[in-house]
Amino acid sequence: MTIANEAPPASKKLTIRPRPQLGLGAALIGREEEELVLQVIRNQEPFRYYGHDANHPPGMAAQLEKEFAEKFGFKSALAVTSGTAALECALAALGIGPGDEVIVPAWSWISCFTAIVRVGALPVLAEIDDTFSLAPGEITRLRSDRTKAVLLVHYQGVAADLDKILAEAHSNGVRVLEDCAEAVGARYKGKSVGTCGDIAIFSFQYHKFMTSGEGGMVAVNDPTLYERAVRFHDIGQMRAYHVNIKKPSVPAFVGDQFRMTELCAAMALAQLRKVDFIKDHCRRLSARVMEQIKGLPGIRPRRIPDPAGDTGFEIYLALPSKELAIQFSQKLEALNVNARKTTFTYCHYARDYCQTGDAHTPAASPFKQFKDWPAKGYRQQDFPRTESIIHNFLALPLGVKYTDEDADYIAAAVRQVHSELMS
Ligand SMILES: Cc1ncc(COP(=O)(O)O)c(C=O)c1O
Repeated sequence: MTIANEAPPASKKLTIRPRPQLGLGAALIGREEEELVLQVIRNQEPFRYYGHDANHPPGMAAQLEKEFAEKFGFKSALAVTSGTAALECALAALGIGPGDEVIVPAWSWISCFTAIVRVGALPVLAEIDDTFSLAPGEITRLRSDRTKAVLLVHYQGVAADLDKILAEAHSNGVRVLEDCAEAVGARYKGKSVGTCGDIAIFSFQYHKFMTSGEGGMVAVNDPTLYERAVRFHDIGQMRAYHVNIKKPSVPAFVGDQFRMTELCAAMALAQLRKVDFIKDHCRRLSARVMEQIKGLPGIRPRRIPDPAGDTGFEIYLALPSKELAIQFSQKLEALNVNARKTTFTYCHYARDYCQTGDAHTPAASPFKQFKDWPAKGYRQQDFPRTESIIHNFLALPLGVKYTDEDADYIAAAVRQVHSELMS
């Protein structure tokens, strides 16, 4: 892409533009969602397994699973109530429970930690690198005889360093749960995220690429893992719909209740059909901004292991210090540029639940095995690499309602603030 260099010289002040509207799928909720949700209401079929007229086409949840699996290249997909529920289903499908350890990036969403605790296993916190995802080498460093899996987060629209991490997981005999909650539509070397590990999850929460308010998906190729996830999400049952997909072979076990409603599925289905549009838009604007700010001394963009697969909805810029990052963000915000110093991801060791080490009842806490708490591996001083990354960056979100003019203005604002603070 060639873009005229429209950024003004440093001395010329920008004319402040109105702040653009943030939002991905949520900003595109409209007629398509309305039509599918109304179908559910008109048919009086809000429950995916009961009440369906045999003459009706498959329900919304079934259709969502089918289109989702086909679009992203999975053998099976299972719609559930949230990304957090999907994580618990995936961990349960992998047979993870008390006595097991799961490696998870110290810097990741709350649920990445809590889901592991909820199934009774021990989260083992790992360093991130300049991709903001798990640092290669961490599985080898942290692996013990009890390590069953790594929960690999594809952070904010970008695939992690998959080749290195998968090779390391395989050589250590560790299974890979790909958390694609923040990366619907992201790809790595031509494949959708989630298709390279053992099992994957996605989230349709409000801020995600596609949203149904709340909602999630477990996606998987292995039929036994699919059956186990189905059973766990539906109080241990395999209903006729799923039996048609996978002949039951797993002895029944106790599950939870994470079934998606037809209303939620209708929303998610309409949104799924918009993912390519959102992605193309964000990628184009992201490239437009990056082209105009590349090479600014002292500013380093997040490393993207496969740039061709980036969804482009958030630009990360690392600054030389925390102080500069804060000032940079404040100045951009004053120019009406959405520039976050936080994405509401924090390190688990800084969160209350990690500092107490409690579960809902003491006996359920995997941390009770440690004499002192917080134990080594759960304290800020144990994560020098992560600490050196997370304070110095700012995140520039790009919404689906952003225009070319917004992108050019963001680039010009970054250049102006850079000249004020760093040259
Ligand atoms: C990386 C990651 N995993 C899991 C989740 C949980 O998804 P949900 O909010 O749908 O429960 C999120 C949600 O923000 C997330 O960002």
